[in-house]
Amino acid sequence: MHESLLIYRNMRYLKVAVALVTVTGLLYALHSPVENPNGGTWLGYTLGTLSASIMGWLAWYGVRKRSFGGPSIRMEDWASAHVYLGIALVIVSTFHSGFQFGVNVHTLLYFLMLIVVFSGVAGLYFYMRFPRLLSENRRGLTTDMMLGQIAELDSELSAYAVTLDDATAKAVFNAVHNTEIGGNLLSQLTVDNPNCPTLLARKFVERSDGSHDEATRRKLLTRLSKKEGLLRRIRQDTKLRCLLQLWLYVHVPFTFATLAALVTHVVVVFYYW
Ligand code: HEM
Ligand code: HEM
Repeated sequence: MHESLLIYRNMRYLKVAVALVTVTGLLYALHSPVENPNGGTWLGYTLGTLSASIMGWLAWYGVRKRSFGGPSIRMEDWASAHVYLGIALVIVSTFHSGFQFGVNVHTLLYFLMLIVVFSGVAGLYFYMRFPRLLSENRRGLTTDMMLGQIAELDSELSAYAVTLDDATAKAVFNAVHNTEIGGNLLSQLTVDNPNCPTLLARKFVERSDGSHDEATRRKLLTRLSKKEGLLRRIRQDTKLRCLLQLWLYVHVPFTFATLAALVTHVVVVFYYW
């Protein structure tokens, strides 16, 4: 759905957004107030009200996503318009401000809004790209299937480890019992962990050439490398799914912060008016 929403209904909402930005730009170019263009002229107020309305509507998307029934506008229309009007909002609100930026609550609002918009662009990119990356990475296996294969490899590795010298057995047992998947946020976003016990065990066995018979060494190396490959895929899967969630932790809280800043902005401009 996310890939198609950019071209949805023959790009109807891109056209709406381009029309909106063009009309706004023309009005801004033709507008010649006595003082510098700013948010306090008739055009400034008009574009400010328009920007606030667009923002309110974009924020309402979160409510609309969760409510069934309601007005008969399709979710695809909401999503497609959300993306294009969200980007158009940056231009409309910039014309509203008359490019008068400074260190104040008004410019803070503008920056908060930019964070929401850029996080939205990142989220859209993730949604469009990740489903394919996820399925390429899984290659037909589910996480449970990969975990099942790791459990099988672990039991084989444990069986070999008891026949080996202490140092190798310790490294292999460490790989079997202390290899972690997931964990805190940083671990979820890390695919290649240089301290992963399985990686360390594989390197140890590679280095310990001659300390046990070649056949056992090969069997160990094959299983440890196979486990490493599976771990890499599961960690890649975890990372992609984590990123798919993470951007919303920026997009949604910053939406609330932006709405609060908008109310402050309007109160402040009317208070000092
Ligand atoms: C997304 C919505 C909005 C954004 C991002 C926004 C942003 C800005 C920015 C950056 C400025 C320039 C501040 C400066 O001169 O230092 C400004 C000015 C102003 N805005 Fe907004 N604004 C929004 C909505 C509104 C609304 C809804 C109103 C009122 C109906 C409004 C009224 C004003 C006024 C009167 C000024 C001029 C303030 C002055 O010159 O001191 N704005 N706005
Ligand atoms: C100030 C502008 C914006 C506001 C206030 C806003 C607000 C929101 C809200 C409240 C949600 C619902 C999140 C949830 O509860 O799951 C949402 C979802 C989303 N937004 Fe925005 N957004 C803005 C701009 C953008 C832009 C510019 C883009 C992309 C270019 C974008 C892309 C998305 C995407 C992809 C979703 C998730 C859609 C889905 O789950 O189907 N947003 N946005």
